Amino acid sequence: MKILVTGGLGFIGSNFCRHIITKYPDDKIINIDKIGVGANPANLKDLENEKRYRFIKEDICNSKLVNKIIKQADAVVNIAAETHVDRSITHPAAFVKNNTIGTFTILEAIRKHNDKAKLIQVSTDEIYGEIRLGSHQENDMPKPSNPYSASKAAADMFVTAYHKTYNLNVAITRCTNNYGPYQMPEKLIPKTIIRALKNLPVPIYGSGKNVRDWIYVKDHCEAIDLVLRKGESGEIYNISAGNELPNIEIVKKILDLLKKPQSLISFVEDRPGHDARYSLDSSKIRSKVGWKPKFSFEETLAATVNWYVQNESWWKSLATEKILHPTPWKLSDAD
Ligand SMILES: NC(=O)c1ccc[n+]([C@@H]2O[C@H](COP(=O)([O-])OP(=O)(O)OC[C@H]3O[C@@H](n4cnc5c(N)ncnc54)[C@H](O)[C@@H]3O)[C@@H](O)[C@H]2O)c1
Repeated sequence: MKILVTGGLGFIGSNFCRHIITKYPDDKIINIDKIGVGANPANLKDLENEKRYRFIKEDICNSKLVNKIIKQADAVVNIAAETHVDRSITHPAAFVKNNTIGTFTILEAIRKHNDKAKLIQVSTDEIYGEIRLGSHQENDMPKPSNPYSASKAAADMFVTAYHKTYNLNVAITRCTNNYGPYQMPEKLIPKTIIRALKNLPVPIYGSGKNVRDWIYVKDHCEAIDLVLRKGESGEIYNISAGNELPNIEIVKKILDLLKKPQSLISFVEDRPGHDARYSLDSSKIRSKVGWKPKFSFEETLAATVNWYVQNESWWKSLATEKILHPTPWKLSDAD
C-alpha cells in the first residue's frame, strides 16, 4: 500500500511513519509536512535513507500540490494539525486554517482526483467536550470547548459529510491524550519532565483535578493502522487505553520518577475553557477492529521520562522559554 501521511514530522506522525515502515516491508510512505510548530526533521532521521519513505516539505492547504500527490496514493492518513490547545486560545485562525481548511483541501483532492483513496482522519477525544461521569461513544454529539477542538470537530464534520454526499471511503479515529518519545516540549508530560530536570517550578493549571485518559503513542499508531486496514467506511472509532488520571497525579508520578521534590509543583491560574474530564468508550474498535492496547502505562511512562532524560540533544533547542511558559495562553504576539 502507498500511504500519504500528513504531519509525519510531528509527534504521532513520526511514530506512525516508523510503525508502518517497520511493520510492512511492501508499504511506501509519502510524508507531507510543512515543518510547523510540532514538527522536527530529527524525529525521522532514521528513515532518511529508506527507499520506501519520501518527504515533501509542503502545506496541506496547497491544493495544487495535494491534488497532484493524491493521484499516487492508495490511502491518506491525515495527522497534520495545529495541536496545542493553549496556543489555539491566542492564535485561533491558524487552527481553522490548518485543521479545518487543511482537511477540506484533502477531501477535495480525493473527491476530484482519486476517489478510490481511503482517508483516515486522525481526530481527538476533545471534540466531544468534557464529560463528568461515564464515557463518550462515537455517536455522541460533538461539543468542543476551545478553538483547537472546534477546528478538529469541524474537520470531522466535513469528513462525514463527504462520505454521505460523495460516498468517499473515510474513517475517523478519536483518541485520548498520547505520551511517548518525540513529543514537542509544549505539552504537559514533556514540559513537566524538562522543567523538573531544570529545577524550574512545574505549573499546574487551576486545581490540577482535570482528568485525562493517557495512551502510549505506539498503541495509538497501531490503532490507526488497524482502522486503515480493517475499519469500515463511514465509521468513527474511539481509541482509549483506560488510564484516567487527574493532571496533578501524572505530574507527581513524573517528579517521583525523576526523584525531584513535589515542592516544584506550582499552581497557576486555570486555562479558559479548561474541560474537567475526557473519557471515551472504546469498545467499538476493540470488538469490530480487534485492537487493544499492548503497553503498560507505568512501564511506558517510566520509559518516556527516561527517553527525555537520555535525549536532551533532541529537546534542548526546542525547549525555549516561550515553549515552556507556565501560562502560554496569556502570551501576546510580541512575546
Ligand atoms: N497528541 C495527542 O495527545 C493527540 C491525541 C488525539 C489526537 N491527536 C491528533 O493527532 C494529530 C497529531 O498530533 P501531534 O500531537 O502529533 O501533533 P504535533 O503538533 O506534534 O504534529 C503536528 C504536525 O502537523 C504538521 N502540520 C500542521 N499543519 C500542517 C499543514 N497545514 N500542512 C502540513 N503539515 C502540517 C506540523 O508541522 C507537525 O509536524 C493531530 O491531528 C491531533 O489532533 C493528538
